[in-house]
Amino acid sequence: MTAPVSVVSGGSRGLGLAIVEALLVRGDRVATFSRSGSAALDALAAAHPGRLHVARLDAADLEAIRGFVADVAAAFGRIDHCVANAAVAHEGVLATMRADEIESMITVNVTGSIVLVRECVRQMLMGDSAGRTVTLISSVVADRGSPGLSVYAATKAALEGFGISLARELGPRGIRVNTVAPGFLETDLSATLSAENRDRIARRTALGRVGISGDVVGMVSFLVSPAGSFLTGQLVRVDGGC
Ligand SMILES: NC(=O)c1ccc[n+]([C@@H]2O[C@H](COP(=O)([O-])OP(=O)(O)OC[C@H]3O[C@@H](n4cnc5c(N)ncnc54)[C@H](OP(=O)(O)O)[C@@H]3O)[C@@H](O)[C@H]2O)c1
Repeated sequence: MTAPVSVVSGGSRGLGLAIVEALLVRGDRVATFSRSGSAALDALAAAHPGRLHVARLDAADLEAIRGFVADVAAAFGRIDHCVANAAVAHEGVLATMRADEIESMITVNVTGSIVLVRECVRQMLMGDSAGRTVTLISSVVADRGSPGLSVYAATKAALEGFGISLARELGPRGIRVNTVAPGFLETDLSATLSAENRDRIARRTALGRVGISGDVVGMVSFLVSPAGSFLTGQLVRVDGGC
């Protein structure tokens, strides 16, 4: 049997990079995109020759996403799994947030993710779609809230609603759709958070610490595998108990 093909958006760093690496290590062929590349991604491509397809594009460019998925399908012959991970977070109180920041979060986090999933699902539905998966990366902020992150939270809540309905829509075709909501993770996305806020978040978790990408990868790998075969429409919080 040929290796499964997994698409992961935003694989140049942070959680996306960790997911790309885990799926390569388990034997998948993987395709990812981001606006910039990274040395870590180049190293993975060198370590897994012919199994990692990397593209540079902006998720706000919906036509580019369509082209990317078409290229992946042409290069690898099919798409089995889609992980919508790429996102941007502009922190700031709503009263002073610029319209372009609001628009960028909605376009990249919601529209870009939905269009990516649509394009991947179209490919999945062309063949025997049983066992295929869609995994959406949300955030605990969507239902716990955080000052300065109201628009970001809205984009993640939108993805969660999308996932529940899509799971019902695709269930009859054997495609599972789940959402993973991480708590605070030490990545570039959260690097601007003050030390005070970081400590406050760590204190609020049952485990008494903030997370790293490696804490979340196991859950994504599980969902994107036969071990998760009866799980769909689920929202899984991986947050150290916050
Ligand atoms: N870090 C946290 O505390 C945390 C907590 C909960 C949930 N999450 C979620 O986890 C996921 C990964 O976050 P992370 O912390 O790993 O973020 P990160 O380190 O900032 O990485 C984000 C990835 O997405 C890509 N990306 C961002 N904007 C893009 C765009 N317009 N077009 C194409 N690619 C784009 C980035 O590459 P380029 O910049 O080169 O484009 C990068 O590869 C996100 O969905 C985030 O909302 C994060």
